Amino acid sequence: MSTGPHLRLGVNIDHVATIRNARGTSYPDPVRAALIAQEAGADGITAHLREDRRHITDDDIARLADGLTIPLNLEMAATEEMLAIALRHRPHAVCLVPERREERTTEGGLDAAGLFDHLAPMIGRLNDAGCRVSLFIEASPRQIEAAIRLKAPVVELHTGHYCEVDGAERAAELKRIADMAALAARNGLEPHAGHGLTYDNVAPIAAIPQIAELNIGHFLIGEAIFLGLSDSIAEMRRCMDAARGVA
Ligand code: PXP
Repeated sequence: MSTGPHLRLGVNIDHVATIRNARGTSYPDPVRAALIAQEAGADGITAHLREDRRHITDDDIARLADGLTIPLNLEMAATEEMLAIALRHRPHAVCLVPERREERTTEGGLDAAGLFDHLAPMIGRLNDAGCRVSLFIEASPRQIEAAIRLKAPVVELHTGHYCEVDGAERAAELKRIADMAALAARNGLEPHAGHGLTYDNVAPIAAIPQIAELNIGHFLIGEAIFLGLSDSIAEMRRCMDAARGVA
């Protein structure tokens, strides 16, 4: 068990917009969900503006940027279109994520090493605009080393594979994520983690002392159907605090 500092919870509200967009209505409103999450103790709100706008829209980002008092983490592909939107709203954080196959590593994270020349000027512009850049990468030395050279202050380690496997394979994945969180922190990067986390699998990731933030969406929004959003978030907070040794 770790006794590290407060582990931040970023609540991803994309899938409230997925439900809204399934019927083309104006409800449920992801901004309303973000405000409830803020009340319920979320440390930040994460929203992914996808190129095809399949859930979050440009208007949602504008309303989130205006309406939140906690930090907004804008997830986006590393494209000129998305860069212009980020520079217009200047969210607290911008997490660069892969959307196309050629932007991904085989495991699914952003290929920061392979895309180095494309990413470097974009990260420079976001850093200059005061947005805290995060790279959503696989937990691998090659990707961490690229993030360091790219001067990204944050890396978000992809927990998708960890969540999909079990037994010895999960233990190996967990060790890989813990080792890479330590490597990132030793090199001055702030490690975050996310993708696929639930009440059942969050504790070992939350206990990694160098990890400063978890971004969690799909499970929390699904659980909100049964518990309500505030209680769904409160229970995740409890799981994270217990893993971190916080009373
Ligand atoms: N972090 C990043 C970079 C993501 O792209 C996502 C999914 O949108 C998440 C965290 C949250 O993953 P999940 O919805 O599975 O909790």
